[in-house]
Amino acid sequence: MSDIWPDKFLLGNKTAVITGGAGLIGKEIVKALAQAKANVIIADLDKKNGKKLERSLSEDGLNVSFKKLDITDEESIQETIDSAEKKYDGVDIWVNCAYPRTSDWGKRFEEVNYESLKKNVDMHMNGYFLCCQKIAEYMKEKDGGVIINFGSTYGVVGPKFDIYEGTEMTMPAPYAAIKGGIINFTRYLATYYASHNIRANVICPGGVYDGQDERFVKRYDENTPLGRMARPEEIAGPVLFLCSDAASYITGEVLMVDGGWTTW
Ligand SMILES: NC(=O)c1ccc[n+]([C@@H]2O[C@H](COP(=O)([O-])OP(=O)(O)OC[C@H]3O[C@@H](n4cnc5c(N)ncnc54)[C@H](O)[C@@H]3O)[C@@H](O)[C@H]2O)c1
Repeated sequence: MSDIWPDKFLLGNKTAVITGGAGLIGKEIVKALAQAKANVIIADLDKKNGKKLERSLSEDGLNVSFKKLDITDEESIQETIDSAEKKYDGVDIWVNCAYPRTSDWGKRFEEVNYESLKKNVDMHMNGYFLCCQKIAEYMKEKDGGVIINFGSTYGVVGPKFDIYEGTEMTMPAPYAAIKGGIINFTRYLATYYASHNIRANVICPGGVYDGQDERFVKRYDENTPLGRMARPEEIAGPVLFLCSDAASYITGEVLMVDGGWTTW
């Protein structure tokens, strides 16, 4: 480990896999980690956007490559690890930022269909579980590693439903169950694998601005101490920090990146 301070925040010679790396937040994480000198694998179901990101960041001289991954498929997870092993000699960092959901996602609580609930829990929470099981066992055989799982403010606190009034939006109940599950599962990982030099932490973003209904955005802003929604790149810095040696004594932590939403 370097004893020069700014170097501790860099990821030179490390390889990072970002699931959901082609998405709104994922692509900013890919860029941040690659600029911090990691080899980064954009691991996503979406080949079109993944390849597009690979091209644009490679043109900027960054070391990124796309690998099609389905987090719900054990073989696909294993293939992603194997291809990183072949290409870069291993995986040091695994960030679960994928966001699988069914086409009926977003229904009000009383309208949530049981089959749909099961499917969403299976794809999202269980998909994160499968990725963690495979990568933690892999890291155990290497000399350790870092796992970051994406939670949400809504895995920690209840939604403020009046911000959705008059819009088509709501905060789906399965999301609270899934994110709450991912958060405490990550604490389990942290203690289970601590003796193998594996750190596991959670990032909980607040709402990220993505062109939502302006009535919702206005109320969200008013309810946030910093007075606005997040920009996607504001989630990437805390991820980079937790991946780096500057965070070498942090494990089992849940880092809120929410403009203060959960503070008052
Ligand atoms: N956007 C927000 O406001 C917000 C707030 C809090 C937490 N989060 C969390 O942040 C994470 C990223 O969210 P986002 O807004 O960037 O989502 P997004 O929908 O923009 O991106 C998600 C990515 O996951 C990929 N994906 C979906 N299913 C997959 C699968 N089975 N295997 C592999 N990849 C798959 C998609 O192709 C997409 O590229 C999620 O865990 C989400 O719950 C988001």
